[in-house]
Formats: sequence, C-alpha cells, structure tokens
Amino acid sequence: FDIQGFQNNLINWYLDNKRDLPWRKDQDPYKVWVSEIMLQQTQVDTVIPYFQRFMSKYPTVYDLAYADPQDVLKTWEGLGYYSRARNLQNAVREVAETYNGKVPDDPKQLGKLKGVGPYTKGAILSIAFNQAHPAVDGNVMRVLARVLELEDDIAQPKVKKQFEHYAGALISHNDPSSFNQGLMELGALICTPKEPLCMFCPVQEHCRAFQEGTVHDLPVKSKA
Ligand code: ADE
Repeated sequence: FDIQGFQNNLINWYLDNKRDLPWRKDQDPYKVWVSEIMLQQTQVDTVIPYFQRFMSKYPTVYDLAYADPQDVLKTWEGLGYYSRARNLQNAVREVAETYNGKVPDDPKQLGKLKGVGPYTKGAILSIAFNQAHPAVDGNVMRVLARVLELEDDIAQPKVKKQFEHYAGALISHNDPSSFNQGLMELGALICTPKEPLCMFCPVQEHCRAFQEGTVHDLPVKSKA
C-alpha cells in the first residue's frame, strides 16, 4: 500500500476542497473541542448555528467554566444528548482549575477529561496541536473499510480499536490535522454510505474496494 501517495492525494484534496466551517477558522483547542463534541451525534448543518451561538456566549474556557449550567443546557437545547453539554462543562471547569485554562496537549491528561474519548482526544490532538493521533468515527471507519477493504463488523467495539490502529499507521506526520480532517471530509462529501462518488475520489487509485468492485458491500455493519 502506497501510504505516501494516499496521504498526499488526501491532504491536497482536503486543502483544495474543505468546507468553510466556523470551527475551521483557527486552531483554538477549546473551539475544536466544542465542535467535535457537538458533531458527534449531530449533522454539520445543524451544528453550525449552535456552534456560533455557543461561541458568542462562551468564547473561552473560563466563560464556559463559570457559566450557569442551566444557561449552558438552554444554549444546547435542540442539539440533544444533553449529557454531552454537562460533561463538557465539567471537563472545561477542570481545565480552568487544574490546567490554568489551557486545554492539555498531553494525550493522557486529555483522555482523563469527562466526555473525551479516543475520538475526541485524537481530533483535538491532531487538529489543534498537530500531533499524529488517529481520530476514528463512523465516517472514518467507512472510508478505511473501503480503502483497505476491511470486512470486520464495524458495529463491534473491538473493531474500532483495530481501525484506530490502521489509522495510526496511515496518518501523515507532516500534517496530521489535514490528514484527519481529510478523512472526515472524504466520508462526508465523497465516500458516502449509499451512493459514493468514486469518480471524484482523490484516493480512488489507492482504494482496494474500488479496484475489487466491493465499495457497495463495505463497511460490514451488523444491526444488533
Ligand atoms: N465531523 C466530525 N468532526 C468534523 C469536523 N471537524 N469537520 C467536519 N465534520 C466533522
């Protein structure tokens, strides 16, 4: 597998085609964090206005840390999964108190914060701090399953760990931020679940499923 060619094609495509999203305006780890939490169970189009409102009300770690929790929930209203908002505020409070308001760039410290699982941790480390950590969500699993033609059932928790291992082997050390966001963007815009746009795919030449004609059979996902 031509890792270098895959990385170059993906990153160059991302840099040319990335959507102009409000959380992509700077690399502030707090903003990256909030956006990734909002995006976990919610579509990009829905998140955009919530993210903008949230950032005007709570522009920094300290604003969110010392906000009234009821007020935070109110701002979150409509996004659903309200434990996300509670965990986020608790974790941000810990950052204010334990880390002088600076989101830690240490994977161990970051991973101990409430609500920061492997995905969010990898997203913050790569996008905000340019560290080569994988950030594997459902979209990224679909892309990897197709490119590498992996037939494991992505509904199984242990499979996510395997995919994180593959993503860690493929990730660019020059530009981990664009690499991870490129995988996300590819899953959102090209390598979609139902009618993937393989003719426009920047990594078509690297895609085993495309070569074998199995794109529509991947990823394997049990209902359960
Ligand atoms: N989905 C999850 N994270 C994302 C991001 N940073 N940009 C766009 N879509 C995403």
